[in-house]
Amino acid sequence: MNAETSKDPMVHVIDHPLVQHKLTLMRQKDASTNSFRTLLNELAMLMAYEVTRDMPTHQVEIETPLETMMAPMIDGKKLVLVSILRAGTGILDGMLTVVPGARVGHIGLYRDPKTLQAVEYYFKMPKDTQERDVIVVDPMLATGNSAVAAIERVKALKPKSIKFVCLLTCPEGIATLRQAHPDVTIYTAAVDRQLNDHGYILPGLGDAGDRIFGTQ
Ligand code: URA
Repeated sequence: MNAETSKDPMVHVIDHPLVQHKLTLMRQKDASTNSFRTLLNELAMLMAYEVTRDMPTHQVEIETPLETMMAPMIDGKKLVLVSILRAGTGILDGMLTVVPGARVGHIGLYRDPKTLQAVEYYFKMPKDTQERDVIVVDPMLATGNSAVAAIERVKALKPKSIKFVCLLTCPEGIATLRQAHPDVTIYTAAVDRQLNDHGYILPGLGDAGDRIFGTQ
């Protein structure tokens, strides 16, 4: 993490030892597709815990074996998880495990290999987004172009709030996203050193989509 990032209150680095340990296992080039996917799932569950910390709760009356009490519950349906295809699926699955009532949106974007710009090919969101909080997920915030484009599309639907969750990012990706969407909080497990000329994060973990789906 550089000095700028460490001071930015809109960038939350989730430095819990369990998160850091699992990320280290994922970075290793010999990790199998199966273990990469399993670890990403576990990490997404742990990150969901942090990202939903300020989620509203309401009191409901319940009966314990001994007496009646008022107890807090969340309304998962008020949350929309938006997965940037295809790699976002890896984080989406883990988060849905802990917030199973959440609604799900999908944005299909691919990165033009020459310009590194995001090109949209799919967009589907739940109804009534303006009544919901949105969490956009993508494992790698690299150039930031996909995240900026995805958030722009989501913002047009006027949700109550938008957060962005990734596994890994770099100073370049953070700067691009912060400049375009200064109101969006970023959650990440690590801020790596830099982006290379092909838009990959260094030291990073390689192509997240290929590693999740075993396509390389
Ligand atoms: N996307 C990836 O999958 N990996 C990177 O390092 C950058 C973008």
